[in-house]
Amino acid sequence: MSNMIDILQKRRSIRLFSDKPVDAKQLEKLQQALLRAPTSRGKNPWQFIRVDDRNLLEKISMAKAHGSAFLAGAAVAYIICGDETVSDVWIEDCSIAAISLQYAAHDLGLGSCWAQIRLREHNDNQSAEEYLRTLLTIPEQMRILSIIGIGRPAEEKPGHPAEQLPKDRIHINSY
Ligand SMILES: Cc1cc2nc3c(=O)[nH]c(=O)nc-3n(C[C@H](O)[C@H](O)[C@H](O)COP(=O)(O)O)c2cc1C
Repeated sequence: MSNMIDILQKRRSIRLFSDKPVDAKQLEKLQQALLRAPTSRGKNPWQFIRVDDRNLLEKISMAKAHGSAFLAGAAVAYIICGDETVSDVWIEDCSIAAISLQYAAHDLGLGSCWAQIRLREHNDNQSAEEYLRTLLTIPEQMRILSIIGIGRPAEEKPGHPAEQLPKDRIHINSY
């Protein structure tokens, strides 16, 4: 079985991490996964912020009331940003980079999870994007898609069994 098929079969969202840091070689490979991601017309509209400062990880974990708390325990998190003035399909380009990062993390024996930021609220008065823009001094034209939290897994989850996949979502030749 190819390594990629194995990754696809076994990857799960991991939200609990051990205290052990991610090493420099792993960080280099994660970085390459981001920067090798394909983009529409090769425009590379993305920018990535790697956060490994514990105090900052704590703060970004508060980006939303629900669904981002796990980032406080991550060894490292990548803020996935896209320049909407560079590409009208920055969301697609950033999503591909983000999932490439998650698959690479799994391949390196690390766990990861996506925290949605675009279209999500920090509180009644501020979007999650605005909260992070201020915290991390992100320029106005940069949109923030998501944050991928990564670390050494402290929980085990089996891959989704093949027989439980929603096969009725696949249509042949017509819907
Ligand atoms: C676009 C997108 C947004 C997501 N947002 C969050 C989130 O904000 N917080 C979170 O804990 N998980 C988030 N997830 C992870 C999903 O909850 C998870 O992928 C899904 O439940 C399937 O589980 P699995 O990844 O273990 O197969 C998101 C995943 C995607 C693809």
